[in-house]
Amino acid sequence: MASEIMYAEVKFKNESNSPGTDSNSAAAPEVKPTPHLSKPAGPTLLFTSLMALFLLLAISFLVAFIFYFQKYSQLLEENNALRGLNYTELSCTKDHSLKKDKFWSCCPKDWKPFSSHCYFIPTASANWSESEEKCFSMGAHLMVVHSKEEQDFITKILNVHDAYFIGLSDPGHRQWRWVDQTPYNGIATFWHPGEPNNDKEQCVIVNHPRSSWGWNDSPCSVKQKSVCQRKKIYV
Ligand code: BGC
Ligand code: CA
Repeated sequence: MASEIMYAEVKFKNESNSPGTDSNSAAAPEVKPTPHLSKPAGPTLLFTSLMALFLLLAISFLVAFIFYFQKYSQLLEENNALRGLNYTELSCTKDHSLKKDKFWSCCPKDWKPFSSHCYFIPTASANWSESEEKCFSMGAHLMVVHSKEEQDFITKILNVHDAYFIGLSDPGHRQWRWVDQTPYNGIATFWHPGEPNNDKEQCVIVNHPRSSWGWNDSPCSVKQKSVCQRKKIYV
């Protein structure tokens, strides 16, 4: 008679499991093999590419903007230089110190050249505002004095018996302003001793009352001669 064999514990082996794996762990999640790339490539790569493209576009836009802004400024400057030059003859001298495509520095006929500017003395006397308007209509402004040399150059061609408006005035509270926005304190001043002396005299003349040329604050409404100044024209 066959004897009955009782098994208290039965173990089943999964063929794919490594030896020694407990059959109870069959319910545990399967361990996946490690992929070669540690991060998911798709979305990150797309994001990086988009960012790079955006950066490239932004840089191109900035470069184009700077390029066209410079061109625009140059055109504006040339346009200003030509303002008031209709039907005017130019007097030019060859200038070797100029930028690549410019060879001549010019002033309108009858204007006096000095350094990088041209100067003109209108015949008629006028108050300060009218004098500035007259200069403006010729593409110029009342003279801004930048140095002793410039002041000496211009006073040599002025009449000691006349007074001449320059482009310096005070809109109030002794705040001296140059017509071209040059900072007042940035350059030299040539006041006569004791001047400026009257806050009701809000415009400046250059005159020669005694032994030398210098500046005096003077009423804006009085008619005086004047000195116009403009930048040289380079062609
Ligand atoms: C002028 C003043 C000046 C003064 C100098 C006056 O005739 O109007 O601007 O300061 O002379 O003595
Ligand atoms: Ca004065």
